Amino acid sequence: MSKDVLTLALSKGRIFKDTLPLLAHAGIEPLEDPEKSRKLIIETSHPDVRLIIVRASDVPTYVEHGGADLGVAGKDVLMEHGGAGLYEPVDLEIAKCKLMTAGPTQAPELRGRLRVATKFVNATRRYFAEQGKQVDIIKLYGSMELAPLVGMADQIVDVVDTGNTLKANGLEPLELIAHISSRLIVNKASMKMKHDKVKSFITLMEEAVRKNS
Ligand code: ATP
Ligand code: PRP
Repeated sequence: MSKDVLTLALSKGRIFKDTLPLLAHAGIEPLEDPEKSRKLIIETSHPDVRLIIVRASDVPTYVEHGGADLGVAGKDVLMEHGGAGLYEPVDLEIAKCKLMTAGPTQAPELRGRLRVATKFVNATRRYFAEQGKQVDIIKLYGSMELAPLVGMADQIVDVVDTGNTLKANGLEPLELIAHISSRLIVNKASMKMKHDKVKSFITLMEEAVRKNS
């Protein structure tokens, strides 16, 4: 990676949209819209900053392994990843939601071990272990709400915002695992090798968050 260029990993959709105003504060504007372009590397109006577009759950992996110097990732994704090899210097206060357990509004009496469907396997195991509960975890990659409806799981662990998705599927939120927002994350080597550039970017993001709130 060039010493002069900062690479920022973002995911399409919510995180990209919510990060745009923060970048604008720093005078950085993407030259292409990832929703329209098939390109995965997007140059910006700033010659020293480029964006890479990856899956939300892959952002910490790219940053940890040096595929990007910086990234924006949900705390849910960071809890699942474990956060090793990363700094997490700024709460960007975007994409706010809650990581929760949820289950059917009229849950039948539980027999045996609780079966929990989720894409957040590690965070779920940790949460129930802290409660002293052993549960069977079923790994899914999306549409977790379906699992209790088809009798595959008793509960799910997913992010909840308005609660509309749960409600539309006859589920209700149960226990709060964590309040979630997206964080700026930084590769540890980049923090050393590109210190001045990374530090200035962090300061600009901190200012942008203050302005945004
Ligand atoms: P992947 O493509 O890796 O499966 P994803 O589809 O969950 O990820 P997004 O839906 O773009 O990715 O969500 C990105 C982040 O936004 C999540 O990690 C979470 O922190 C936050 N988020 C998810 N859903 C909501 C929501 N309904 N309201 C607010 N924030 C949300
Ligand atoms: C997310 C999440 C929930 C939903 C919660 O899905 O997976 O299903 O938002 O939001 P709510 O409480 O306001 O209904 P999203 O809409 O991002 O689609 P995705 O499954 O593609 O991530």
